[in-house]
Amino acid sequence: MSAQPQAASPDLAAIQSLAREDMSAVDALIRRRLASDVVLINQVAEYIVGAGGKRLRPMLLLLAAGALGHRGPDAHQLAAVVEFIHTATLLHDDVVDESDLRRGRRTANAVWGNAASVLVGDFLYSRSFQLMVELDRMEVMRILADTTNEIAEGEVLQLLHVRNPDTDEAAYLRVIERKTAVLFAAATRLGALIAGADAATCDALHGYGLNLGHAFQIADDVLDYASDAETLGKNLGDDLAEGKATLPLIHAMAHADDATRQRLREAIEHGDAEALPEVLDAIRAHDSLGYSRDRAAAYADAAEASLAGLADNPYVAALRGLARYAVSRDH
Ligand code: IPE
Ligand code: IPE
Ligand code: MG
Ligand code: MG
Repeated sequence: MSAQPQAASPDLAAIQSLAREDMSAVDALIRRRLASDVVLINQVAEYIVGAGGKRLRPMLLLLAAGALGHRGPDAHQLAAVVEFIHTATLLHDDVVDESDLRRGRRTANAVWGNAASVLVGDFLYSRSFQLMVELDRMEVMRILADTTNEIAEGEVLQLLHVRNPDTDEAAYLRVIERKTAVLFAAATRLGALIAGADAATCDALHGYGLNLGHAFQIADDVLDYASDAETLGKNLGDDLAEGKATLPLIHAMAHADDATRQRLREAIEHGDAEALPEVLDAIRAHDSLGYSRDRAAAYADAAEASLAGLADNPYVAALRGLARYAVSRDH
């Protein structure tokens, strides 16, 4: 952390108000560029985009650019690109995870079926490529091509671990780095790049996003056991039902007695949603949510520490605030 005294980090409402004008420009751009003359594409895309979502990744891109003194249409366009990519992964993710609630609504796959979700996800991916190409900058295209490729690797890596009770913390971290953290890192690196920052500053912002992404996904995995569906806008226990060993369950398994460990292993092997009460008991007995929250907090601290070399301003403070928010959020 910087040696200079810093004001307390702003909360989410203050951060959103700092980014409000730019975010409305991004939102308008997203709406405009969703359009297709294929009716089903408009329906599905409008449905998931219109449900909102936190718009965290585009906001990160705008704040990273703002932290380095840049605002404007190129940043808006790139912010739309990362939100399109994120939305495409959600459409695909809900098919793979067989989820039926997202952003407080039935998932697109629950409403229109798997085929429509996968194909409209592909539409959003390829629309994001069209948007990025318009900027005509090879470095931007390289970052986004690498990032989308790594996300796909992360999703497949995760698939290989489904129903595998031997998934350990290291394997878990390898998955979340690719499926989630690299897109956060791309968003903040692109913000720095578009602001004309030098290589070291781009790397610092990349480091911030990568750490933040880890913190964010661990917090998501805690919420899957600790929230309620109404607040979260997603169903609880989806990870267990899918046979996904996330950090809370990995920690509980490592600390449980032999008999309990065996039952937890079976719950993962069978993706047994009915074992949820027993899993929750074990997670409680070993304070596995506390452990996971601490790990998330350590990543959030590392994210903040990556900002140490930047001259302080309201946008840098907002990035610090988002690191706090990522681990204190309730949805
Ligand atoms: C959900 O991301 C997928 C994860 C990486 C956990 P968000 O929680 O940012 O989803 P929205 O966009 O706000 O709905
Ligand atoms: C995040 O993992 C998936 C993506 C990066 C698309 P999850 O499967 O935990 O995300 P949610 O909980 O469904 O949003
Ligand atoms: Mg999911
Ligand atoms: Mg989740």
